[in-house]
Amino acid sequence: MTYAPVGGSGGTRQAEELLGRQGAHRVHGAPVEQAQAEDAPQRIGMAVVGAGYWGPNLVRNAQQTAALRLHWLCDLDEERAGRVLGRYSTVRTTTSFDEVLADTRVQAVAIATPAATHYRLVRAALEAGKHVLVEKPITTTADEAAELVELAERRGLVLMCDHTFCYTPVVRRIRELVHGGELGDLQFFDSVRINLGLVQPDVDVLWDLAPHDLSILDFVLPPGVVPVGVSAQAADPIGAGRACVAYLAVRLSNGALAHRHVNWLSPTKVRTTLIGGSRRTLVWDDLNPQARLAIHDRGVDLTPPEEVTDAIRRRTLISYRVGDMVAPALGEQEALRGVMAEFAAAVTEGRAPLTDGRSGLRVLRLLHAAARSLELGGAAVPVAVQDSTAAA
Ligand SMILES: NC(=O)c1ccc[n+]([C@@H]2O[C@H](COP(=O)([O-])OP(=O)(O)OC[C@H]3O[C@@H](n4cnc5c(N)ncnc54)[C@H](O)[C@@H]3O)[C@@H](O)[C@H]2O)c1
Repeated sequence: MTYAPVGGSGGTRQAEELLGRQGAHRVHGAPVEQAQAEDAPQRIGMAVVGAGYWGPNLVRNAQQTAALRLHWLCDLDEERAGRVLGRYSTVRTTTSFDEVLADTRVQAVAIATPAATHYRLVRAALEAGKHVLVEKPITTTADEAAELVELAERRGLVLMCDHTFCYTPVVRRIRELVHGGELGDLQFFDSVRINLGLVQPDVDVLWDLAPHDLSILDFVLPPGVVPVGVSAQAADPIGAGRACVAYLAVRLSNGALAHRHVNWLSPTKVRTTLIGGSRRTLVWDDLNPQARLAIHDRGVDLTPPEEVTDAIRRRTLISYRVGDMVAPALGEQEALRGVMAEFAAAVTEGRAPLTDGRSGLRVLRLLHAAARSLELGGAAVPVAVQDSTAAA
């Protein structure tokens, strides 16, 4: 299956989880909180494009980020943009993206329009010399994404992809633990994202739900470990005309396996991720606020051959470790606040953001490889040139 929009109500259900958990409020039809102080020269002038479901969340978080100064909200439907801002806002509305790009106060734009428009809008913004924060998926094809990554790098501009889950406190902590070597060598990485979901009219369950788990995988994997191939299986057992259940197996360069299960047909909601290492295993149960993240000092040891005596050789080489479980305290910060802070910091410091255009491209390649595998009846599809902008 080729790309179909990932946003709409499918992405929205996940987003509601994200926003709801962080205690965020929506701004549709209500005045946006004006948390910004008077203009300061060092603040980054900004515009948001798209005032549909997700754009207002970017507006609210941009306005609550001291390093940013929002000047414009652009939408083809100007009334909608006006409703988002409320009557007393000093932020201007327009239907013209060109007007936004022509404003020299605007140094950065955040794009929250449908995915099919991302390539054109991001390219125009980069060509106008603006830094860009773009919603996921970065574009609809890997060729387009690679072109944008290359353009941003050539122009010395920040191109960041809003992989929102990567900015939740729990995913940040998981990344620290994995990158800090707490888990030892990565052995497996399983995630389950299932519930009774609305069958989307234009997108299958893979494109609806897997982008979140693949962006988390990309964010958390230890340096040097990359996906090398994907095989996917999917089914449409209710005759909906598109896959409602999908399983993705992502083979990693160190021999480990990552598995994603996404499903619209499960009567029980499950949001669980397990990351197994040679020293410890993490269990992230997003529906358990008491112990959202648990670190288990338990696992399986294999006696190294040099330590094997004749006596041991007669027994099994495998032993089981049963140690403590620790549930670390996690902060409560809305993920999008972290997105905005990272975007502003990347622009100010002239560096690549944590979820840069390249990460958007890598996630897109995994999705396309999974879709290709489905077309091939589940065959393993290699994921090529992981850290290059060359088209896959
Ligand atoms: N990060 C997340 O968790 C998350 C959650 C939901 C949606 N999204 C993403 O956000 C993007 C938007 O999704 P949505 O659900 O808000 O869509 P939406 O359809 O609700 O809103 C899109 C808005 O963009 C406007 N628009 C379209 N083309 C435009 C153009 N050329 N110039 C100006 N405005 C234009 C439309 O009028 C509409 O108001 C998608 O890429 C989606 O995948 C991300």
